[in-house]
Amino acid sequence: MTNIRITEASVLSLPALNRLFVNAVHNHFQYFPEHVRNRVIKDHSLVRLSLAKVDPRRVLLVAKQDQRIIGYAIGAKPAIGPAQVYWLYVEPDHRGANIGLSLLSRMLKVLGSKGASEIAIATHDHRRYYERQGFKWVRNTMVYGVKMDILTFKVKA
Ligand SMILES: CC(C)(COP(=O)(O)OP(=O)(O)OC[C@H]1O[C@@H](n2cnc3c(N)ncnc32)[C@H](O)[C@@H]1OP(=O)(O)O)[C@@H](O)C(=O)NCCC(=O)NCCS
Repeated sequence: MTNIRITEASVLSLPALNRLFVNAVHNHFQYFPEHVRNRVIKDHSLVRLSLAKVDPRRVLLVAKQDQRIIGYAIGAKPAIGPAQVYWLYVEPDHRGANIGLSLLSRMLKVLGSKGASEIAIATHDHRRYYERQGFKWVRNTMVYGVKMDILTFKVKA
């Protein structure tokens, strides 16, 4: 993990985060039908990301190599209900170097500092990945016709 920094996304980094997000949805989340991917992209437009940036319940983390964004984690601690990690992504060339883990652990820490006692995640094909990081499997569910595993992480008091 040379020269890699995990930080909260700055306002200036949002256009690059948006570009990486759109690219990731098109190329790495193809198990969702196209209309769902298009909606997800709309929900993470530059305007929406800017609103999320100023919303204290939302967390936008980026992994940067020098000034370039190579990964992100997006989560939230809503006023009601469990905190969630919505998205975790690392560019293919940088995988396997613990960047995903670093993003995830920082996300768990930040959500914990916002008062989360439990953090949920839904994943299609990364159940083992999250179990290795301490998440516990809860149940299966269908999301837009896609089978997903729901897992939760208990934040230590
Ligand atoms: C998931 C992701 C963020 C992990 O990023 P990363 O930086 O490579 O992760 P890390 O380096 O911290 O961990 C890599 C380890 O996880 C393992 N791993 C990767 N994908 C896995 C999977 N689907 N199931 C189980 N283990 C997995 C790797 O084999 C590696 O194991 P090792 O440490 O024994 O070699 C990255 O693979 C990614 O962006 N994938 C596409 C987007 C995606 O599916 N995100 C998750 C949606 S819920």
